Amino acid sequence: MSPTHTSDVLVVGGGIIGLVTAWRAAQRGLATAVVDPEPGGGAARVAAGMLAAVTELHYGEQTLLGLNLASARRYPDFAAELTELTGHDLGYRRCGTLAVALDADDRAHLRELHALQQRSGLDSQWLSGRECRRLEPMLAPGVRGGLRVDGDHQIDPRRLAAALVTACERAGVVVHRAWAERLALAGDRATGVVTADGTELGAGQVVLAGGSLSGRLADVPPDVLPPVRPVKGQVVRLTMPARLGPFLNRTVRAVVRGSHVYLVPRESGELVIGATSEEMGWDTTVTAGGVYELLRDAHELVPGITELPLTETRAGLRPGSPDNAPLLGPTGLEGLLLATGHYRNGVLLTPVTGDVMAHALTTGELPEEARPFTPRRFGAAVLTEQPA
Ligand code: GLY
Repeated sequence: MSPTHTSDVLVVGGGIIGLVTAWRAAQRGLATAVVDPEPGGGAARVAAGMLAAVTELHYGEQTLLGLNLASARRYPDFAAELTELTGHDLGYRRCGTLAVALDADDRAHLRELHALQQRSGLDSQWLSGRECRRLEPMLAPGVRGGLRVDGDHQIDPRRLAAALVTACERAGVVVHRAWAERLALAGDRATGVVTADGTELGAGQVVLAGGSLSGRLADVPPDVLPPVRPVKGQVVRLTMPARLGPFLNRTVRAVVRGSHVYLVPRESGELVIGATSEEMGWDTTVTAGGVYELLRDAHELVPGITELPLTETRAGLRPGSPDNAPLLGPTGLEGLLLATGHYRNGVLLTPVTGDVMAHALTTGELPEEARPFTPRRFGAAVLTEQPA
């Protein structure tokens, strides 16, 4: 079978990671195509869009921190370029973040995080409960203290995705609205994909950027199959009526009884509350328990949310990887690259992923800053059996 369409680069997956890869590749002069039944969809439809390199720092993730910070530094120019090119307002808000503690255990946890941030050379400031409430008057009187991080911002991921679709169109990226079913191979090299209707799309290089689905493209040899799994996150959206005045000025987050909860206030009046973290396979059901826990924990932080209209509930799937870091660049199979496994940081890592992948596609190598994220750091994928 000869391909009906051929490009230099074929990106499998039109979420924000696939789109930014395609856009940057096309800007470098590569004839680029994306295959996805619904470009601009994926986890970005659900994500809150926190750009939280500092407040989402975890023990053991210092290598990932370097990439997160590199991407955070790129955000102002990236957002300006995308807005200028497409005319889309991305909802990019350099508002900072306040991580707060409600009880002694939370405060101890936050103190540990502060110490880790300081050891990592990051900018964050410890505040008393009173100082937190001065910044955010809607916070509960019981807030015991917090960390002010002025460098952790937010963007609206749905707007980001829409802008990337437009940027791809303007850059000449061909979009195939189809489901990529299997990888096409010739000998020991990837040559494209075959879609659900049997069409073969040929390419010099194939980038697998299918988010949590990246491990499910048929005929990818087991030793290069990405070890990603879906990690469910439920999110609710409220509306902050303008007549109430500013409800929250910045992202507010906390760990309540061991669960992360965050409230992300947009200039549009949307208030996003997230997120559960559940190992439930491919399930995207919004559950009463998930919504209850989010609202209960958010209410402990900001009691006034009970007054706000509830406008949306949704669940999405983060692409989790074994070390919580992305898989970027060439694999052991010639012609096949990965851009997946971004887990909790897909929105934050979008700018750096575009640059890294464009570099890899044009030179065959990862730039220095991305070398730790080579897919070759994992052996053959060990995937937990997931329901079909
Ligand atoms: N980065 C936020 C989340 O994954 O829930």
